[in-house]
Amino acid sequence: MSEGPAQVGFPAGFLWGAATAAYQVEGSPLADGAGESIWHRFSHTAGMVRDGDTGDVACDHYRLVESDVRLMRSLGLQAYRFSIAWGRVMPAGTGAVNQRGLDFYRRLVDLLLENGIQPCATLYHWDLPAALDDRGGWLKRDVAEWFADYAAVMLRALGDRVPMWATLNEPWVVADGGYLNGVLAPGHRSAAEAALASLNLMRAHGAAVLAHRALCRQRVGLVVNLEPKYPASQAPEDLAATARSDAYMNRQYLDPVLLGSFPAELPALFGDAWPAVTAADLALIRQPIDFLGINYYTRGVMRHDPAGRPLDFTRVPQAGAEHTELDWEVYPQGLTDTLVGVKQRYGDIPLYITENGAAFADPPRAEELGPDTRRVDYLRRHLLAARAAIAAGVDLRGYFVWSLLDNFEWSHGYSKRFGIVHVDYATQSRTPKASAAFYAEVIRSNGASLLS
Ligand code: FCB
Repeated sequence: MSEGPAQVGFPAGFLWGAATAAYQVEGSPLADGAGESIWHRFSHTAGMVRDGDTGDVACDHYRLVESDVRLMRSLGLQAYRFSIAWGRVMPAGTGAVNQRGLDFYRRLVDLLLENGIQPCATLYHWDLPAALDDRGGWLKRDVAEWFADYAAVMLRALGDRVPMWATLNEPWVVADGGYLNGVLAPGHRSAAEAALASLNLMRAHGAAVLAHRALCRQRVGLVVNLEPKYPASQAPEDLAATARSDAYMNRQYLDPVLLGSFPAELPALFGDAWPAVTAADLALIRQPIDFLGINYYTRGVMRHDPAGRPLDFTRVPQAGAEHTELDWEVYPQGLTDTLVGVKQRYGDIPLYITENGAAFADPPRAEELGPDTRRVDYLRRHLLAARAAIAAGVDLRGYFVWSLLDNFEWSHGYSKRFGIVHVDYATQSRTPKASAAFYAEVIRSNGASLLS
């Protein structure tokens, strides 16, 4: 029995987009009066980023924004998820507003709307103003107010024209990479700081949602990276450790927003390093949101690791499985499991896949690009996994590929290429890879081409 296009595709109105983040693509980090960010500092600190790469030039998107929006249009993108560099808009993080920084985002939004592309703005994708880090950054309770003030500036400027707002991108990565493992800015290594940063990130999220409700009628949500956790064995200690790893990476952020409490595993895991959480904190964090953005890349197969402090679990490498250039296992079923799992635990909240994609080894010069088979395969399989979740009743409203462009992949610098469009960093020329043509056809057919 053959299905018609209406059945094989995605629901009518499904939103197809691509994502980037400010520090990863913009370049010109100090232009037009911008204040430096913690990522500017971190990348300029010897030894922090592979090959000494920085975001000084990146994809030069700050200057090439007009042609980049034309490129988006040529691919048929319906939406573009970008982030706003807080320090461009408020160089000191609080107080004075820098109109020239704001103008860049005004122009980007204008260009997107003129080209029929829906802007989706993320207020925080990891580039805290360095001036705020000097005042304690995410470790200070005041950061909730600082963030809400910045959110209010953006909402007053663009609230009416941006239909989808996200507060934070991946608070887990900010806390785990920035404050526990030190591999991301600001590069601290402390369990107590990681737990405190998480709490303040979520308080800031809540405060920004409140600002949004006061100033804007559009939708607001949170973006989290979710990684489903599977036990390496059925031994009771591995099962319990797997549940703790899920509490740490996934439920730490979703439970307080959607259920009003932190998972009980966390105070036990962190011990004295766990901060005092007040009822007022929980009330602030638990603001109703209009959608949840999920970034999905891989899964975690976990076992108990009694030596781990404070995290007494570890990932078990999956020999024989396919891995990307970041050594992330390719596991599309995990996307279905994640989406279905969110519905089961938290009920029906509109979901978007706000990032999904893969780094594979592409050459520096576009002339040497291969057929991009692995990225196409990765995307196809994950899109089918998303469709399976929809078939299982999940309210999935859209998908954003990570990333539109090859870009600055944080501590890996320019060595990892996630783009569906190749960037030649010597010339800044953009060349769509085969995955871009594949994705354009997915968009054009609303997903029906996936099955042909
Ligand atoms: C996510 C980040 C994004 C990019 C991808 C590969 O964790 O949100 O900026 O680095 O991973």
